[in-house]
Parts: sequence; C-alpha cells; structure tokens
Amino acid sequence: MQARHLCAFVVAFAAASSAFAVTKIIQIPPDSEQLTPSALPGYAKARVNCVACHSAEYMVYQPPTAPRAYWEAMVKRMKAVFNAPVADDDMPVIIDYLVKTYGAERPK
Ligand code: HEC
Repeated sequence: MQARHLCAFVVAFAAASSAFAVTKIIQIPPDSEQLTPSALPGYAKARVNCVACHSAEYMVYQPPTAPRAYWEAMVKRMKAVFNAPVADDDMPVIIDYLVKTYGAERPK
C-alpha cells in the first residue's frame, strides 16, 4: 500500500516537470531604448521597420566603427533570417540612417 502511494506521486511529479520543460522563455532587452531622432529619411522608416521586435538597444551596442557594408548586411540579415518586413526600396535610406547615427559615418 505504502509503495503504491509513492509510485503515484512520482508519476504526477514527472508529468508536471515535463510540462515546465516545454515552456519557452524568450528574453529581449528592455523597451526603454528609443532610436536616436534624426532628420534623415531613414529615421522614420527605421521606426516602422526596425524596432518592432527589439528596442534600439541592439543598434546602440554595435561597434561605432561599423561601416556601411556592416549595416547593409545587418538589415539584410534581419529580413532574410527573421522576416523583418523591410521593403527592398526602403533599405538604402535605413542603412544610411543607421551608419550615420550608430556607425562609422556618424558626425565626430
Ligand atoms: C521580425 C523581428 C525583427 C525585426 C523587424 C528586426 N529585427 Fe533585428 N533582431 C531580431 C532578433 C530576433 C535579433 C536577435 C537574434 C540575433 O542576434 O541573432 C535581432 C538582433 C539585431 C541586432 C543585434 C546584432 C545581431 O547581430 O544580433 C541588430 C543591430 C539589429 N537586430 C538591427 C535591426 C535593424 C536595423 C532592423 C530594421 C531593418 C531590425 N533589426 C529589425 C529580430 C528583428
């Protein structure tokens, strides 16, 4: 009788812990970081296209020496890998804004 009780408990526990195992925890940076305002046309486009999934913190933490080609690859990667809804026509202005705001072409 005693042993049977114990057995039932173990089964219930195993079921509960496997339910926890499938829970996915996705961490994203805090939402506080906004894109740096700019008169460049890419600013408005980046606000629509680039901060829907993550904050601008990801831009802030890129190397300040990152050249245009780096940002171009980044925008293309966001689209290809994560399906970021960036129109091909919008890419040049967004890249221009990014490199001039966060990368190698920002004002010294
Ligand atoms: C559909 C969701 C989505 C959109 C829209 C999106 N990103 Fe991302 N981005 C991600 C995810 C997910 C990561 C983190 C995963 C990773 O680093 O591989 C990320 C990471 C980044 C990083 C960090 C560096 C890196 O290599 O991970 C930068 C910079 C970045 N994104 C820039 C942008 C820019 C610029 C745009 C707009 C063109 C953009 N993102 C739009 C999903 C998105």
